[in-house]
Amino acid sequence: MKYLITGAKGQLGLALQKELQKLNGEIYCYDVDTMDITNYEAVEEIFKEVKPDIVFNCAAHTNVDKCEEDLENAYQINALGVQNIAMLCEELKAKLIHISTDYVFSGEEEKPRIESDFVMPRTLYGKSKLYGEELAQRYNQKTFIIRTAWLYGEGNNFVRTMLKLAKTHDKLTVVGDQFGSPTYTKDLAKVMVALSNTNYYGLYHGTCQGNCSWYDFALKIFELMKIEIKVEKVTSEEFVRPAKRPKFSILDNLMLRLRGLDSFRNWEEALEDYLREDSSWQRENL
Ligand SMILES: NC(=O)c1ccc[n+]([C@@H]2O[C@H](COP(=O)([O-])OP(=O)(O)OC[C@H]3O[C@@H](n4cnc5c(N)ncnc54)[C@H](OP(=O)(O)O)[C@@H]3O)[C@@H](O)[C@H]2O)c1
Repeated sequence: MKYLITGAKGQLGLALQKELQKLNGEIYCYDVDTMDITNYEAVEEIFKEVKPDIVFNCAAHTNVDKCEEDLENAYQINALGVQNIAMLCEELKAKLIHISTDYVFSGEEEKPRIESDFVMPRTLYGKSKLYGEELAQRYNQKTFIIRTAWLYGEGNNFVRTMLKLAKTHDKLTVVGDQFGSPTYTKDLAKVMVALSNTNYYGLYHGTCQGNCSWYDFALKIFELMKIEIKVEKVTSEEFVRPAKRPKFSILDNLMLRLRGLDSFRNWEEALEDYLREDSSWQRENL
């Protein structure tokens, strides 16, 4: 079996490499320096040479604030880049596992969102990712889309930011009125691989179980790391960002559950595992 990963140096791409190494297949890894997904000819050349059976698209323009100022780049990567990949998957009869986001929802509804719920993105990032979903499904029959949220893994993420800030601050302020499910890339990579072994194409939600606010998330990180620091809760209005953040990012993994494929752990258990596994980064950086 030949697996191809795009965005392989990103948080999720790195976790997926580890997960695929447990299998007996050939893994081909590319990032923007070796295969820019917005360049159709470059993607075509590599795809036709490798002839992958399964493609994992982890490449994306993930900077939510920069997308607000950069409509063209957001759509180029998150929509047309996805179309390039989907068209070539169709030609090669490859399966495509594409990753999307909770930002396709308005973030105003106070209950967990299921896959068939009405979408209403409020940011350019969310809009470009939603169009990417549509193109992935329209141009390749064998497409799985997994919407995830609040990812952390190997790379820059909220957990590492909190730990770095705690080194230089006695007190931190963290938003307490936005809710989601912190999701370890390792859990998501496992589900992506499990799903790719099936023919259950379609749309899925995939986040760790349970939910919390960013404030609760920060408190749990410091509790598990036994760091004593004062953390103050602030509102979204006190912490304005260029792109509006959703208040309720909680996704229900309904379709995975119904397919018997929801292996996500509780977010606190997954976080504990991550903090243990990320110890070499902690030794070098803290
Ligand atoms: N992080 C989250 O909290 C979160 C939440 C919901 C959904 N998601 C989705 O989950 C997926 C993985 O996210 P992540 O956190 O792993 O993101 P990430 O760490 O930013 O990784 C994305 C990778 O894609 C690369 N890339 C950017 N433009 C590219 C292009 N034109 N061609 C090829 N590669 C390109 C990036 O390179 P550079 O770094 O050099 O740009 C980076 O290595 C994305 O689809 C994202 O939208 C993430």
